[in-house]
Amino acid sequence: MRSILIAGNWKMNMGPKETADFFAQLEDAAHKEITGVEAAVCPPFVSLSTAFSSRKAGSAVKIGAQNVHYEDNGAFTGEISTAMLKELGCDFVILGHSERREYFGEDDKIINKKVKKALAEGITPIVCVGEVLSERKDKRHFDVVKEQTAGSLAGLSDDDLRKIVIAYEPVWAIGTGETASPEQAQEMHSFIRGELTSLFSKEVADIVRILYGGSMKPGNAGELLQQPDVDGGLIGGASLKPSDFSNLIAIASEQ
Ligand code: PGA
Repeated sequence: MRSILIAGNWKMNMGPKETADFFAQLEDAAHKEITGVEAAVCPPFVSLSTAFSSRKAGSAVKIGAQNVHYEDNGAFTGEISTAMLKELGCDFVILGHSERREYFGEDDKIINKKVKKALAEGITPIVCVGEVLSERKDKRHFDVVKEQTAGSLAGLSDDDLRKIVIAYEPVWAIGTGETASPEQAQEMHSFIRGELTSLFSKEVADIVRILYGGSMKPGNAGELLQQPDVDGGLIGGASLKPSDFSNLIAIASEQ
């Protein structure tokens, strides 16, 4: 019922030339429309145009951004608006990534404004939540994720939620090679779905996709994607290699 989303978060990697190379090397199968699987890559802003122009004609791979500002336009040096992303043709925008929270001071209030703006512009937000290691050790991980989920999605309607993707990314698993076990991922994903059910209607909570992120790669994607509430992956490191990304899409299509 929920299609799988394999989304690549390239972070501050891949300039325009590498982006063109990536699309040239992506296997033909990865470009094809696969029933029940959606694929997307989120390059840095400066590589977005190249991503659109170098993607094969008719490719099913969608393109998104890694951040956006919540104002329409104006004196916000260095920022990008949702309308600009829409003009390029972006389908997705990653919001509230732990690196934005940690290094750029983004909190749930800011993320919430960005989510609302993206929705108003018709861009699907991929809203990230997840605890750091000390919070898990202190057994506060459910509380932290509950607060981030409620804060990031504050004031949204059932109809808004339909257009949102959530990504659970335990910070201790990002870029560390350490992955949440399939059981840990399922436990938190099912908890998040429960929270969505208490904030919104059950019908909509049931159709929202919850991605897992944190060292997902071809070697562990299968068992993670088999979990009933894991509806895809937000993939950093492994999404930079065309062969790994193609493999992840193939693995998703076998689920
Ligand atoms: P990783 O990053 O796959 O390199 O751990 C995931 C993310 O930060 O979205």
